[in-house]
Amino acid sequence: PVLKELVGLSNLEEKIREFYGLQKVVVVPGNCDESPLSKRELGKAGAKALLGVMQGGDVVAVTGGTTLAEMAEQLTYPVNGPLKGSWFVPARGGLGESLEIQANTIASNMAKRVGADYRLLHVPDLLSREAYESLVHDPNIQEIVREIRTARVIVHGIGNAVDMARRRKLDEETTSGLQEKGAVAESFGYYFDESGSFVHNMLTLGLRLDDIKAADVVLGIAGGKSKAKAIHAVLRFGQEDILVIDEAAALEIVREL
Ligand code: F6P
Repeated sequence: PVLKELVGLSNLEEKIREFYGLQKVVVVPGNCDESPLSKRELGKAGAKALLGVMQGGDVVAVTGGTTLAEMAEQLTYPVNGPLKGSWFVPARGGLGESLEIQANTIASNMAKRVGADYRLLHVPDLLSREAYESLVHDPNIQEIVREIRTARVIVHGIGNAVDMARRRKLDEETTSGLQEKGAVAESFGYYFDESGSFVHNMLTLGLRLDDIKAADVVLGIAGGKSKAKAIHAVLRFGQEDILVIDEAAALEIVREL
């Protein structure tokens, strides 16, 4: 039965990989909605995939979230020695989520685990127009934002639009606006509808859509049946190179191909 299950998973991987022309798809067993063990496996698979693509001198931009936090936990010291000269940076500001799952925390944890360096961006994830205007002209912030925007590798989580709007405490008007526009997914601060078109973005500092398009490696990681629609929307957006998901999400996605 174990072998049969493995064959089943690799079939799912291959179907999704081929349909979306991805470089690599990894499907771990189970459903992260229900099992912390699956989420740990997901984190472990994400960590392995990241180490597999990293090169000397990389800038790796990472988002926040519980999945990325788990992935950071699962990173192990590279067998070929520390990744000196590589940098981890947060994809965006992030003060606003709880400390453990902020992009800054994740960037520094990942860097420490693999012997790389890190730089942080100390600005909130969601900015008022006034705050944005003043921060965007600050030379120190400009410097780190410039570095973030050159990331060769981007590692990001994926969430349900409405769940993320709530987690970020967006006001009722914005949240219902998102629903009216059909937003189902959120990733890198952008909200996407089912067809993968972006329908809303937050006023935030850091990565922009153009940077995501320009990056060499975009690695998306998410699990849980409840996230299948969101993951699928981000796949249709079409910028992923490596996708790490769980079986529960993969089964739903394959059904819609
Ligand atoms: O807020 C950062 C972020 O990566 C979002 O872009 C994404 O939607 C969410 O976290 C995923 O969070 P979690 O891994 O906790 O489900």
